[in-house]
Amino acid sequence: MLIRRCAVLFLEPREDLDIDWTALFAGDAALGANIRWMALAAHLGEEVEVSLEEMAALGGIGLTLWQERGDCEQKFGAATIARLLQAGLLIGDDAGDDAEHHAHFCERDEVLRSQNWRPLSATAHMFSRWGDMRVDKGMQFPSFEELVVSYGTPPGPVIERAAPADAVALPAPERAGLDDTLFQRYTGRNFDGAAVLPMATAARLLQRAFGAQGEREMAPGAFVLKKLSPSAGGLHPVEAYVLAQRIEGVASGLYHYHPVRHVLEPLAAMDTTQTAELAMRMVADQDWFIDAPMMVVLAARVERNFWKYRNHAKAYRALLLDAGHLSQTFYLLATEAGMPAFVTAAVNEIDIERVFGLDPLKDMVIAVCGCGKASGAQDTVEMRYEP
Ligand SMILES: Cc1cc2nc3c(=O)[nH]c(=O)nc-3n(C[C@H](O)[C@H](O)[C@H](O)COP(=O)(O)O)c2cc1C
Repeated sequence: MLIRRCAVLFLEPREDLDIDWTALFAGDAALGANIRWMALAAHLGEEVEVSLEEMAALGGIGLTLWQERGDCEQKFGAATIARLLQAGLLIGDDAGDDAEHHAHFCERDEVLRSQNWRPLSATAHMFSRWGDMRVDKGMQFPSFEELVVSYGTPPGPVIERAAPADAVALPAPERAGLDDTLFQRYTGRNFDGAAVLPMATAARLLQRAFGAQGEREMAPGAFVLKKLSPSAGGLHPVEAYVLAQRIEGVASGLYHYHPVRHVLEPLAAMDTTQTAELAMRMVADQDWFIDAPMMVVLAARVERNFWKYRNHAKAYRALLLDAGHLSQTFYLLATEAGMPAFVTAAVNEIDIERVFGLDPLKDMVIAVCGCGKASGAQDTVEMRYEP
């Protein structure tokens, strides 16, 4: 059997502090530090604790060339190699005793290799996803008052980099066309749980925020879309997936928005109890968002961006910026239609991937947006502009 190391692997010396109560009562130094080595392999997305022997093997077996398992066993020990294969940190080329097991890790490793991820970015992405993050599992929503009690006051909202006398005074901005929308925009946290989003509003919002306004062939077979937000390299890799709770003329459930054909492609039908439950799960129990009749998941098709920005130091940042631009355009369109909107990065990516059928190595869930009619209540704080 031939083996090699998985493509992307970082090792982190993780320090756990523990209090030694016996030493404490005996008056001795009571704080102990315990260091464990954690293997962060992007194709797994789950941490694996490794021993020093296993680290030596991972450092000695390359990620490119396949090597005879027997040779590696001689160098690093059969038990070490078996454990690393079992954990998926080493990849086996074929059957052996545990064919399915090896094939699974081999396939995940191949997917990762094929996308042209920057290793640090793949690791940051795969290990910052939440699954089933809920209030009863530790999700917290501290108020500003509680934060100040815990951390003291925050760094001030502004900084000065020159003496005031040296500063160049600027004229007050004149009122202009965008102002009404800009000043009315706010993050909604009190949606009307009964209101239905009119079809015309939903359609305009989706088309102007996520739809193509044109298509151009930049080189033979290389097509780009023109949209109303900027995108790194003009590639527009961020896809819009819709959770429809109450959109006029659209059955409740999950959809993919097709930016050229301007249609909602059905992925799963759900009754409204299921969509409400999923809405809550998607935004990690932020119940102030769940009454929004339409939520939109922003998920980047990484291979579209990484086609140009291969193994690129800035590509991951560009994907996050792309999603930010789309969400701002979404906010402004909702505002223009007389509705508040929201965006949140506090989302359960793993649950979202599961329901929409997304592979986290290919489809990077970044944020969830939503919008809908305001209820008029102020049960949860909002920051509206007050002249
Ligand atoms: C990247 C990002 C993540 C956000 N995440 C959350 C969130 O998890 N929960 C929430 O209630 N608001 C979230 N917001 C909204 C901000 O809290 C809000 O924009 C900010 O308080 C300013 O208020 P405004 O949008 O009404 O001007 C997020 C905004 C951004 C840009």
